[in-house]
Amino acid sequence: MANVIVIGAQWGDEGKGKVTDLLSRSADVVVRYQGGVNAGHTVVVQGQTFKLHLIPSGILYPNTACIIGSGTVIDPQVLIEEIDRLEALNVDTSNLFISQTAHVTMPYHRLIDQAAEDKRGDQKIGTTKRGIGPTYADKADRTGIRMLDLIDPDGLKERCEWTVNYKNPVLEKLYNLPPLDPQAVIEQYSAYADRLRPFVVDSSLKIAEAVRERHNILFEGAQGTLLDLDHGTYPYVTSSNPIAGGACVGAGVGPTIIDRVIGVAKAYTTRVGEGPFPTELNGEVGKILGDIGAEFGTTTGRARRCGWFDAVIGRYAVRINGLDCLAITKLDVLDSLEEIKVCVAYEIDGETCHHFPSNAALFSKCQPIYKTLPGWQQSTAECRHLDDLPKQALDYLKFLAELMEVPIAIVSLGASRDQTIIVEDPIHGPKRALLNANGDPV
Ligand code: IMP
Repeated sequence: MANVIVIGAQWGDEGKGKVTDLLSRSADVVVRYQGGVNAGHTVVVQGQTFKLHLIPSGILYPNTACIIGSGTVIDPQVLIEEIDRLEALNVDTSNLFISQTAHVTMPYHRLIDQAAEDKRGDQKIGTTKRGIGPTYADKADRTGIRMLDLIDPDGLKERCEWTVNYKNPVLEKLYNLPPLDPQAVIEQYSAYADRLRPFVVDSSLKIAEAVRERHNILFEGAQGTLLDLDHGTYPYVTSSNPIAGGACVGAGVGPTIIDRVIGVAKAYTTRVGEGPFPTELNGEVGKILGDIGAEFGTTTGRARRCGWFDAVIGRYAVRINGLDCLAITKLDVLDSLEEIKVCVAYEIDGETCHHFPSNAALFSKCQPIYKTLPGWQQSTAECRHLDDLPKQALDYLKFLAELMEVPIAIVSLGASRDQTIIVEDPIHGPKRALLNANGDPV
């Protein structure tokens, strides 16, 4: 048995959805531990494609319990829409559980997120405008509303009335917006509470029971390492902790129960929103990556910025998350390129720098130092084993493993489940995967 954390090793959108879907087959419990409806992954059910923002894709496996953990923030309207759509497709949602201590996104959170972004002008963060930052801000300010307040009719009335009246001057005076009617918000949220009440549990206790029964637990991170509030490219980050350390806080478990940490990274890099991005490609190659990789945000539809693989960031993700292995996704997107670059270090004011600088001003000065590798210029979409890959593609993977000093356990070559090379089963296999720094068996 193994308890595994899956995190994004870049700026989010690394293809964690596919990797967690693959691993969910072996999981008894999947726990989403942070973030809110800013995240999104696409799921195909009975030939129908739709987007999930909060519910782990593990819900599609009938015997897998899915827990939306304490560290998440929940927009009830969006969550109810997700539940309704799944139920309309006869997906059993009786295995869905919502933490009673997760915080609730209120109408004023969305309004403030949108208005604050507009007000920031050229200092804007490029948020998803889903109210994520303001919901977490209220959590830290201890003025938030939690799921246990939402589902308690008296508690909701009291809490809602107070918070709406507390926020109205902010809406009116700071952002020039009309005030909200507390009674209307109470009515709206009471209806949400009635729908969600059956799902709300003490999630930490539920996870503890799964640990005691020696079940396999998958902790699913949203967003990515560089969007981490504490360790990302602040201030261009989200307001939660997507890194592996966030899993313990957000799920309510101790670090001693975690067996492995798997990082997911694209074979190149993308970023949505504002902020420095040293390997960004604004020309033709960036456009090719964006077009072939279909790089548009699941939640906002925004075009993602594209660039070469950045191994400085990769090494940083290995360090900050304590990664045991990597899943490299979208290798096939590079299929047509004649040559491929990898950023191996940065140059800052004439000095070579091998480590990610936490200082935003320094990071914005980083010039990538590239190593150029030959492309393979043939399709990898049908490869199912490392041996099937063109030599240049295998060399590329070995080079990444070597630079980041971490083995590669999974290689993904397309959206469908079978377009995957499992180098080593990252849950049940040996602690270290097969493809080591030299590409030799370990
Ligand atoms: P927020 O999380 O909506 O506050 O947005 C803060 C930053 O995180 C922005 O740059 C967003 O584009 C980025 N972000 C938030 N969620 C995701 C995600 O799921 N994938 C990629 N970027 C995200």
